[in-house]
Amino acid sequence: DLLDQINRLEELFTVPQEKLKQITDHFVSELTKGLTVEGGSIPMNPTWCMGFPDGYETGTFLALDMGGTNLRVCEINLPEEKGEFDIIQSKYRMPEELKTGTADELWDYVADCLQQFIEYHHEGEELDQLPLGFTFSYPATQEYIDHGVLQRWTKGFDIEGVEGKDVVPPFEAALAERGVPIKLTALVNDTTGTLIASAYTDTDIKIGCIFGTGCNAAYMEDCGSIPKLAHMKLDPNLPMAINCEWGAFDNEHKVLPRTPYDIIIDKESPRPGQQSFEKMIAGLYLGEIFRLVLVDLHGNPDVKIFDGQDIGKLKKAYSLDASFLAQIEEDPFENLSETQDLFANKLSITTSKPELELCRRLAELIGTRAARLSACGVAAICKKKGISSCHVGADGSVFNKYPHFKARGAQALREILDWPKGKKDPIEILPAEDGSGVGAALISALTLKRCKEGQ
Ligand code: BG6
Ligand code: GLC
Repeated sequence: DLLDQINRLEELFTVPQEKLKQITDHFVSELTKGLTVEGGSIPMNPTWCMGFPDGYETGTFLALDMGGTNLRVCEINLPEEKGEFDIIQSKYRMPEELKTGTADELWDYVADCLQQFIEYHHEGEELDQLPLGFTFSYPATQEYIDHGVLQRWTKGFDIEGVEGKDVVPPFEAALAERGVPIKLTALVNDTTGTLIASAYTDTDIKIGCIFGTGCNAAYMEDCGSIPKLAHMKLDPNLPMAINCEWGAFDNEHKVLPRTPYDIIIDKESPRPGQQSFEKMIAGLYLGEIFRLVLVDLHGNPDVKIFDGQDIGKLKKAYSLDASFLAQIEEDPFENLSETQDLFANKLSITTSKPELELCRRLAELIGTRAARLSACGVAAICKKKGISSCHVGADGSVFNKYPHFKARGAQALREILDWPKGKKDPIEILPAEDGSGVGAALISALTLKRCKEGQ
């Protein structure tokens, strides 16, 4: 019956302490491997963001945030006062069709948004070229900070003719066509932006993380510990932010406790074999994992769930997003009446009490697994760098909105790192400053400063 199924799902989705530790240890070695010449499955991309801000960066910058859900344009003013900033911004919808459209459509749309922003906020002004930090939150190989070759699309994007190419020239061409007075100064990952923006106001920050549609982290490495850059003879003590792209952790399936549902997600995705870690924890996939489990249970004649009902709507891939699970987890009623309404309104499915209880437990299991697995990544960076206490700046819809995500992640860190009970946690994951806005502006400011100094 349904109780047996709950037990089975608990077995499948629970990651016990010992497993967390085992995953973390393997993670440490994979982070290290990613920095070598041979490389591994985690890309560990050098970003050419060399060091933290000192709080006295100044100037006016544009920032463009192309994350996945929204497209955002910001103008950031960094005044003389330490650690301060002013920001104005406009959000534009990122049309779903664009994610699988053509490269021209993508760059035209992005350039149109920038043009609209400038026309709206600087109507009739004579403008010099404005420096822009472009937060492009996908894995990119960078030999310079103002260029980046897209390694592969992630987060369900699938636009032909962009992978393997520098994304900056077509972007600049679209701007030039429109006569938009903008000069791209830095191409930035959202994690690097988050790291730098958070460090601007909190000097204990050592790691920037995104737990959103995708999942990833950046931290500061010494150039001397990046063997794949040894040929460049950089000062070994110079810091360089590394965009880990840890979503690719365990693509070879050595440690992660994948369920049959994770395997289906991967197979049906536009990039099978990629982003194994991300596909188990990021917001894009949480609702889909839940959906796949329910469809599977419904198809099993021994399990009577939604028995005799038309589950056509539930059968549609990606029809449930992470906010659906969040709402189930947040249902305050003993009889789960909000969950019942959700199923009725969104999926035209009538639910019994035992069915609702299974759904609630399943949502908890999926949400908890995501938080606990992500903690392995944070613990791994800290272990690799020998960090015993620090702050981690985090952003993204899952971190900010998914119920209990923060507490579950913190609990997992305690289990992995064996902290004594009753004391303040030495490593804390805290809400970040706006990485793609303020972070991209700061990185642009740091870049211009370095250029001036001729470094
Ligand atoms: C936003 C950041 O808050 O979070 C973006 O400004 C980042 O840079 C985003 O990409 C990630 O969250 P989500 O949920 O939109 O993927
Ligand atoms: C995906 C992207 C990565 C980004 C993350 C969070 O993992 O590959 O670049 O940082 O999502 O948005």
